[in-house]
Amino acid sequence: MKIIFATNNKNKVEEIKHLSHQKFEIFTLQEVGIDIDIPEPHDTLEANATEKSATIYKLTNQAVFSEDTGLEVEALGGAPGVKSARYAGEGRNMQDNIDKLLAELKDKPTRAARFRTVVSLIIGGKEFQFEGICEGHITNAQDGTNGFGYDPVFIPVGSDITFANMDITEKNKFSHRKKAVQQLINFLNDYQD
Ligand code: IMP
Repeated sequence: MKIIFATNNKNKVEEIKHLSHQKFEIFTLQEVGIDIDIPEPHDTLEANATEKSATIYKLTNQAVFSEDTGLEVEALGGAPGVKSARYAGEGRNMQDNIDKLLAELKDKPTRAARFRTVVSLIIGGKEFQFEGICEGHITNAQDGTNGFGYDPVFIPVGSDITFANMDITEKNKFSHRKKAVQQLINFLNDYQD
């Protein structure tokens, strides 16, 4: 079975291609020749994930999945959450987002945080969603150069190093995205078309 992963994020593709699965082959947007920036206009990860998979399903009429991820920080009431990519404002980069996060947490008594991923699958015209959560905390300073996004400031429960100090196999032992995608893989392995 051929399935499209609706993302332009090379790090996400690499993480997911590392997971073992049977029965289907994952193609990226680039591999199927689609070059669009899919909007993320909604207030929830769930709605943004649906937007991405539905946009590509309408274009291709093929099985497609997408994912949307947010970093939810307890002391910030769940922020940056769905706005994680634009936390420091439109047009700012990831370093600006991390700087803002560390500044906001400077005097906070708890640094507990979690990554939450929502996967949206559209297959046979129907949508299915899967969620993956990774609990952890935000460090006092950046550490490590692997991975992407907030990886240099996030340590998952069960480890004492940041995601940015792990290789993909190690990150996938903890990762929110891995947990959500594993459910997707289990679902597809059982799926009868
Ligand atoms: P999106 O799912 O691509 O919209 O990601 C939202 C924000 O969270 C972006 O700033 C990403 O860089 C960041 N992000 C998503 N997944 C991860 C992850 O696994 N580690 C660190 N940051 C992430």
